[in-house]
Amino acid sequence: MKILLVGSGGREHSLAWAISGSPLVDALYCAPGNGGMAEISTLVDIKDTDIDGLVTFARDEAIDFVVVGPEVPLTAGLVDALDAAGIASFGPNKAAAELEGSKGFMKDLCADYDIPTAGYQRCYDATSAKAFLKTLHAPFVIKTDGLAAGKGVIIAETLEDAETAIDEMFAGAFDEAGDQVVIEEFLEGEEASFFALTDGTNILPLVGAQDHKRVGDGDTGLNTGGMGAYSPAPIMDEAMTQKVMDTIIRPTVAAMKDRGAPFKGVLYAGLMISGGAPKLIEYNVRFGDPECQVLMVRLQSDLLPALMACHDGTLDTVELSWSDESAMTVVMATEGYPGAYQKGSEIRGLDAAGSDQNVTIFHAGTKKSGTKLTASGGRVLNVTALGATIGEARARAYEAIGKVDWPEGFNRSDIGWRALKR
Ligand code: AMP
Ligand code: GLY
Repeated sequence: MKILLVGSGGREHSLAWAISGSPLVDALYCAPGNGGMAEISTLVDIKDTDIDGLVTFARDEAIDFVVVGPEVPLTAGLVDALDAAGIASFGPNKAAAELEGSKGFMKDLCADYDIPTAGYQRCYDATSAKAFLKTLHAPFVIKTDGLAAGKGVIIAETLEDAETAIDEMFAGAFDEAGDQVVIEEFLEGEEASFFALTDGTNILPLVGAQDHKRVGDGDTGLNTGGMGAYSPAPIMDEAMTQKVMDTIIRPTVAAMKDRGAPFKGVLYAGLMISGGAPKLIEYNVRFGDPECQVLMVRLQSDLLPALMACHDGTLDTVELSWSDESAMTVVMATEGYPGAYQKGSEIRGLDAAGSDQNVTIFHAGTKKSGTKLTASGGRVLNVTALGATIGEARARAYEAIGKVDWPEGFNRSDIGWRALKR
C-alpha cells in the first residue's frame, strides 16, 4: 500500500515510525515531514494546511490511505475533501472535528448528554462575559471558542486579569478563534490524557499517558504544547479506565452519532481527576504530542490496520497489544520557546544519543540538509526511552539527552516527577 502521512511534528514522526514498520506498506510519504521523517519516508513539500495540494498529490500518486496527524487540517475539512475524491483516510471529518474546533460545541454536547465536565457559559460579547465572571470565584478559566495553537486558554488569578483576557480575545488577539469565548469553572485535581480509537460506533481504548504542559521544572512558567510525557499513567488504572469509558467516551461517541456527525479517528480526552472522579477538560481529535510518542514505542501490534479499521467501520475486529514496559519522552526545545526563538542552530550527537536500543529519538522541528541537522522550530527533539519502570525509562532518556550536542536547546529535568512520587 501507498500511505501519505500529513504533519511534521514529533507526533507525526512517531506515527511514521510505527507505520513504516508495517508489512502492509510499500511506500510512505510525509507532507511536509521533518528531518527525522526524511530518514524513513519520502518527504513531500506540501503544507499540512494545503488541502487542495494534499488531495491532488494523493490522487496523482494513487495513495491508498492518508493518515492526518494535526488538528488544523482536520477542522478545515481535509478528510471531507479526501472522501469527495474517493481517497480513504484516518481522522474525523469537519463536522466531527468540531469537538476540538469549537469549545462551545464540545461543552454543549457534554451538557446535553450528561458528560461530566466543568460548569461553563458561552459568551458572544465582552459585556455578558464580564457579567458571568462576577458569578464565579478565582481562578477564572477563559477560553477562545476556536483553535488557537494551544494558547487560547487563560487561567486568571484575579478578576482584573480575567477581564483583560476577555477584552483581548474580543479585540481579536486570537483572530476569529476569539469571536466567541467560553468561561469555565476551575477544576482541581490531577490531569491525565486518555486515548481511544473509534470508527463512529465501535471503540477501542488505547493506553493512558501524562503530559507536562508547563515549560519549567516543577510545572512552572508558561504553557507549551507539552514538554514530556510518560505511559502508563499510574492514575489511569483499570477502574479509572472503565469510569472514563462509561461516563465520557461511550456517551460522546453515541452523542456524535446521534447528532449525525459520527466521530471516526482518535478521541483524545484531556481529563481532570479528583477524588476518583474523572471530568472532561477538553477533547482533541488527534493524538497528543508528545503523548503519541510514548504510545507508539509501547505499541506492539501493527498500527496501520487499526487506523484503517476506524475508516472502514470494522474496529470491532481489531485488538492491540502493548508492552508492559514504561515509556518516557523528554522534549528538547530551542532556548526561548514558547516565546520567540532562533532557527538554524546545528544539532550533533544524535547517533550516540540513540545508540541504546531502548532509546528512540523522534524529531519535531528539525531540518536535514546533507548530513547537517538543524533546529527549525520551538519543540525540536523527543528523546524517548523504554524501561521496566518509569524510573528506568527516565534514567535512559536523560542519559541519552546528555549525549545530544546542542547548546541552543533546553529540556525540563523533572519529567515524570508525579509518577515517581507515588
Ligand atoms: P486545554 O487547552 O483546554 O487543555 O487547556 C490547557 C490547560 O489549561 C489544561 O491542560 C489544564 O491544565 C488547564 N485547564 C483548562 N481548563 C481548565 C479548567 N476548567 N479547570 C482547571 N484547569 C483547566
Ligand atoms: N500534549 C498536548 C496536546 O497534544 O494537545
